[in-house]
Amino acid sequence: MPTYIVLLGPPGVGKGTQAKIIAEKTGLSHISSGDLFRENIKGGTELGKLAQTYINKGELVPDEVTIAMIRSRLSRPDCKGGALLDGFPRTPAQADALARILADFGGKVEHVPCITASMTTLVERLSGRWTCRAQGHIFHQVYSPPKKPSVCDVDGSELYQRDDDKAETVKRRIQVYVEQTAPLIAYYRQRGLLAEIDGERTVEEVTADLLAVLKHK
Ligand code: AP5
Ligand code: MG
Repeated sequence: MPTYIVLLGPPGVGKGTQAKIIAEKTGLSHISSGDLFRENIKGGTELGKLAQTYINKGELVPDEVTIAMIRSRLSRPDCKGGALLDGFPRTPAQADALARILADFGGKVEHVPCITASMTTLVERLSGRWTCRAQGHIFHQVYSPPKKPSVCDVDGSELYQRDDDKAETVKRRIQVYVEQTAPLIAYYRQRGLLAEIDGERTVEEVTADLLAVLKHK
């Protein structure tokens, strides 16, 4: 049976950083809704144009288009063995839709680790983040600096600061998380799937906790 994992947590807590490591260690496909939107924006698709108007303001892209995008991504062959979902679901309607989608694929959500950190930490991590233009590899100017400034260690492409990492937009993204996504903590706790993970530690310590939750050595 495929293994589906939902990684929950506020903007900047380290979901993308951890998902890349865990995907490599477990062989699961890493599906980031934010990365999918950014690929569409880069490609100039209709979906990208629509998504950009919401992302730039720090608002959520409407459920209907987000759910359709994820359904289509999860139906690709590389998700046959399951997937690690990063940034989806973000509303109770998306969580209900995910349950229906996975049931169609003969699976269900198995674990929901939720990484937590203080507001100060989130802002500090987002304001120092540098993202790779080609494949979304993640760096931080203090905590995980690239070997050469502005160059991705992994693929040599240019590093950039995301438009939605501006102070004003970050504030709104965190507010949107509290209002619209945090209810998923209770949603998954009620279903016995939630595991809270302290994100105020090194990347390696957080990874170790995540692997313990997923029972993966
Ligand atoms: P998305 O791209 O998902 O952004 P997000 O949830 O705001 O999260 P981030 O990617 O900003 O942070 P992260 O938790 O991945 O942290 P990271 O690992 O990079 O979404 C963007 C937008 O798309 C949304 O605002 C919305 O508009 C739209 N969208 C996406 N999904 C949607 C959905 N389902 N429905 C509707 N709309 C949707 O780490 C951050 C920094 O911290 C990095 O610099 C990293 O190096 C550093 N760091 C990480 N861990 C540590 C550590 N342990 N110690 C020190 N530094 C660390
Ligand atoms: Mg991310």
